Amino acid sequence: MSQTLAKLENLLKQRAEARLGGGQERIDKLHAEGRFTARERIALLLDEGSFEEFDMFKTHRCQQFGMEKKVFLGDGVVTGYGTVDGRLVYVYSQDFTVLGGSLSETHAEKICKVMDFAVKNGAPLIGLSDSGGARIQEGIEALAGYSEIFQRNVMASGVIPQISAIFGPCAGGSVYSPALTDFVVMVKQNSYMFLTGPKVVKAVTHEEVTVEELGGAEMHAATSGVADYAAESGPDAIEYIKKLLAYLPANNIENPPVQMVDHAPDHNEPLLNEIIPDNPHEAYDMKQVILHTVDNGDFFEVKEKYAPNIITGFARYNGTSAGIVANQPNYLSGVLDINASVKAARFVRFCDCFNIPVITFVDVPGFLPGVNQEYGGVIRHGAKILYAYAEATIPKITVVTRKAYGGAYCVMSSKHLRGDINYAWPSAEIAVMGGKGAVGVLYYKEAQNTDDPEQYLADKEQEYNESMATPFIAAKRGYIDDIIEPARTRFRIIKALEMLRNKRDSNPMKKHGNIPL
Ligand code: HXC
Repeated sequence: MSQTLAKLENLLKQRAEARLGGGQERIDKLHAEGRFTARERIALLLDEGSFEEFDMFKTHRCQQFGMEKKVFLGDGVVTGYGTVDGRLVYVYSQDFTVLGGSLSETHAEKICKVMDFAVKNGAPLIGLSDSGGARIQEGIEALAGYSEIFQRNVMASGVIPQISAIFGPCAGGSVYSPALTDFVVMVKQNSYMFLTGPKVVKAVTHEEVTVEELGGAEMHAATSGVADYAAESGPDAIEYIKKLLAYLPANNIENPPVQMVDHAPDHNEPLLNEIIPDNPHEAYDMKQVILHTVDNGDFFEVKEKYAPNIITGFARYNGTSAGIVANQPNYLSGVLDINASVKAARFVRFCDCFNIPVITFVDVPGFLPGVNQEYGGVIRHGAKILYAYAEATIPKITVVTRKAYGGAYCVMSSKHLRGDINYAWPSAEIAVMGGKGAVGVLYYKEAQNTDDPEQYLADKEQEYNESMATPFIAAKRGYIDDIIEPARTRFRIIKALEMLRNKRDSNPMKKHGNIPL
């Protein structure tokens, strides 16, 4: 064999070794747990044959704790770029078979390299995490490596979309980097996120807790709000990322992609004319309103299980990507509480970063009163949604379907927060509060001097509802641009989006605002 061919053979041998990561035995163990290898996840994500890898031969430099004998090509992370539905993305995927996917200085350098490429070339970064955190044997070098990644996550925030998916037990630094990204997807039953595992928790706080309870996908999707989606399986998690990417531009100076479908823009939905119950205390499903206005009834929900009293997600109107925020009367009457405010605020800010118009459907009785909410800081957290809408310069279209009471009227993308187009259905009630509460405050004492206080208050309530709980007063002031037929909502939103296509608005020059965190 010629020397050249022998060199080529050596290259192929080394490539094959790198592709095996921590070895076949560990791969088999991963598979037995229903998990995927780092490379399998990349193969699921990217268009076939599109992956170009970097730093396959990179190894760590640690000489302590016998590490000089534990050297694996690639050092526990696969990095590079490829395409999803033909669009460029950068990706890194941690390999649990190599020292638990732990992060060394060199492992971090590989991730930083793709992050730098992603920012310079304006394409999304997708991190597939499966890591026990900072590599303990390296100490400070590993911590320095994480800090370099965190710094890049922050600099990339609002410049390119950053999406994280968690595929195994992730601890320490490997949860903080995803927390800095825009969306986090987890997998039920075999992905976990915690600062420290159950053993440390027991030692420090004496709490007995399972990994699932402490940091499982369902907990993070429903309770902590760290995860945007709890996938049924690894492939389901990857599918979610692909669908999400289809709504997003590649970076903050691009417009979102347009995807035309066969759905007439002027399609009427008569069902919407009757969706609001006659009884103002009766609930209905706001998702039906969304589904009956968007292209092909296709709605991609984000954080579905967290604070379901507000709905957030993406859809298209005549092909144009839009973010949707909607109160959900079906859950806690659609009230705004701490979690709902934070959820919506973060979503609106994401859309604003990436030039995605926001459509807001309003049916909200107000902010949730109570000791728990006040102690939890509903004033500070509720201010976040207000701040998010007020600073957003994207096209903002609002449709009030029923209640828009009090402070909640102000914050839900009202005209006064630079709402561009504000529509109301004839069933809208735009007022400081509902009829019962209002007459209680205004007429309670007066009612006590009548023969039938209850009847007196009922009459006053009817009077109030007829005069105040309507969209016409707001429309007379121009705070509502038009009162529309519910069946025509899709068409009216599409027309408004077309009109706002070239909208330019700006905020005063400043280093950055100070959102009440
Ligand atoms: C070095 C590690 C490691 C780590 C796991 N391994 N985590 N090696 N550094 N951080 C190695 C294990 O020694 C083991 O090697 C292999 O990976 C698989 O790990 P197991 O423990 O056998 O797997 P499992 O039972 O599934 O448990 C996974 C785990 C656990 C929950 C992630 O390994 C764990 O608790 N690791 C430590 C997590 C942690 O506390 N990290 C925080 C680091 S501090 P062998 O060769 O035996 O198979 C940090 C700070 C960053 O990250 C700064 C944040 C702001």
